[in-house]
Amino acid sequence: MLELREHEHKTLLALQKFKGKASLEQIVKESGLPDAAVMRAALTLKEKGLIKITEEKRTVATLTSEGLEYAKKGLPERRILNALYSLDGQAEITQIAEKAGISVKAVPLALGWIIKKNWAVLNKEKNTLALTENTSAKKPQKGIDEKLLEILADKDKIVIEEIEKNLQEAADVLKRRKLLETREKAFYNFELTDAGRKLVKKGIKAAGEVTQLTPELIITGKWRRTKLRKFDVTAPGPAVYPGKVHPLQQIIQRAREIFLEMGFTEIRGPLVETAFWNFDALFQPQDHPAREMMDTFYLANPNAGRLPSKAIVDAVAKVHEDGWTTGSRGWGYKWSRKESRRLVLRTHTTAETIKYLATHKKPPIKVFSVDKVYRNEQVTYKNIPEFHQIEGIVLDKNVTLRDLMGTLKTFYSKFGLKKVEFWSCYFPYTEPSAQAMVYHPKLKRWIELCGMGIFRPEVLAPMGIKHPVLAWGGGLERLAMIELGLNDIRMLYGNRLDWIRRTPICL
Ligand code: PHE
Repeated sequence: MLELREHEHKTLLALQKFKGKASLEQIVKESGLPDAAVMRAALTLKEKGLIKITEEKRTVATLTSEGLEYAKKGLPERRILNALYSLDGQAEITQIAEKAGISVKAVPLALGWIIKKNWAVLNKEKNTLALTENTSAKKPQKGIDEKLLEILADKDKIVIEEIEKNLQEAADVLKRRKLLETREKAFYNFELTDAGRKLVKKGIKAAGEVTQLTPELIITGKWRRTKLRKFDVTAPGPAVYPGKVHPLQQIIQRAREIFLEMGFTEIRGPLVETAFWNFDALFQPQDHPAREMMDTFYLANPNAGRLPSKAIVDAVAKVHEDGWTTGSRGWGYKWSRKESRRLVLRTHTTAETIKYLATHKKPPIKVFSVDKVYRNEQVTYKNIPEFHQIEGIVLDKNVTLRDLMGTLKTFYSKFGLKKVEFWSCYFPYTEPSAQAMVYHPKLKRWIELCGMGIFRPEVLAPMGIKHPVLAWGGGLERLAMIELGLNDIRMLYGNRLDWIRRTPICL
C-alpha cells in the first residue's frame, strides 16, 4: 500500500468521492483543507502521475459599491417609477426625485434609463414626468438587469460563463453602468489518471508525517520515531497581505534618511503662513502672477497674520521698493504691509527656509524639510493641489554653485538617479537659478526634479545674512512616481489597495 502525505491522501480520498473528477472548490469543501494546501497536494500528485490538472479561465462578476447599493434599494429608475405611482402617475421631477430618495446629481442618469425602458415620458417644458400608457395600465415586471442584481445581492459573486445567456447580456449592461465589475480568474479541475485510479482501488494510506516539531514530541522522545515532513519552498502558498508602510511614506522616510546621512538637520513649519514669508521675504513682488488666486489658496478666516520684527519688515519693504542697501533697484512700487499679512496655505517650503534664516545666521548651516505644500491646481495625472516638497539649504563661508550641484547629485544618486543635469531657469529669489533634471529611461524624456539657486542679496540682506546660501526645492511625488514606475500621480493618493498590495514591502 502506497504511503502518502496527509494532504495528498485527503485530496485523493476527496477526489474519489467525486468519482475521480472534481474542481478545486469541490475538493476544498470535501476535504476541509485550505485552498493552497489542496493546490500544493495536487501539484505533487500530478508530479507522481496520479492526477491530471486542467486550468480554465473564467470571468467572475461582483457588484461595485454602487451596484451593491442598488441591489438593496432598487435601481434608480425603478425607485422613480415607484415614486411616480405614489404621486398619481405624474409629477414634477424634483418632487419625484425627493420621494424616490435620489440625489439631484443622479437624476439625469436615472431619467435616461426610465425613458429608455419606456416606463415614463418626460415633459421638458414643464419639467414633469408621467407614466406611459403601458405603465399606467400595468406595473412593469422585473427586468433581467434587476433579476441579476437580485441574484448578486445574495451571492456576492457569479461566474459569467455559468449563467444563462440573457443574464450574461444583463451583466454587460450593468458593467457599462459601472454597477458590476468583472475579472479573470483561473479555475482548476482535477482528474485521476489511470495510474491514480488503480492506486486508489488498491488502497492508500496516510504516512503519519508531522509538519511541526512540538515540545511534546521532544519531551516524550517521540520525535525519534516521527517522520518530519520536508518543505518544498517552491510550492505555491496562500497570498498574505500584511500591513505595511505606504509606498509614498517610505519614500518620504528615505528622503529624510538621505538628508540625515548627508549631515542635514530637519526643520518644520506651519502649513498656514503669512504672504510675508511665503512671498515678500523671497523678493517676489506683490503683483507677481504666482500670488494670484489662481495658484494660491488664501485663507478667508482668519485672513491676516503677524509680521516679524519691524527691522526685518522695513528692510523687506525697502528692498521691494528701491533695493535698499543691496545695490539692486528693487521692483519700484509701493510695498503694502496689509498685502504681506494675508494668510496663505504655503505654496512652497522655501517659506520655512527663509523664516529659519531670519533667526539663524551663523555658518555653517545645513537644514532640510520634507513637507506638505498647496497649490490651487486642477487634479490631473500629474498635478494635485496638496503635495510634498523636498527642500534644503546650505549656508557657509565660501560655498558656490558647484557645491550646490554636487550636493544635489549626491542626494539624487542615493535615490538611484545617476543621469542628472542642471538647466538654467529663473526664480525671483535666486541668482544664478537652475533646475535639476533627470532622464527617465522608461518615459524616454527629461523630468524636472527641483528648482535651485543661490539666494539673491535682496533676500539675504534684510535677514542680516553675510554668507552665500545655496537653496533648492522640488516635488517629492515626482520622485516617487519615478521610483515606483507610475505615470499617474493620483495613484499615490487613491485608495488603490490592489496596487499597494503589489508594491514590495521594501522598495
Ligand atoms: N521654491 C521653488 C519651487 O517651489 C523651488 C526653489 C527652492 C527654487 C529654492 C530655488 C531655490 O518651485
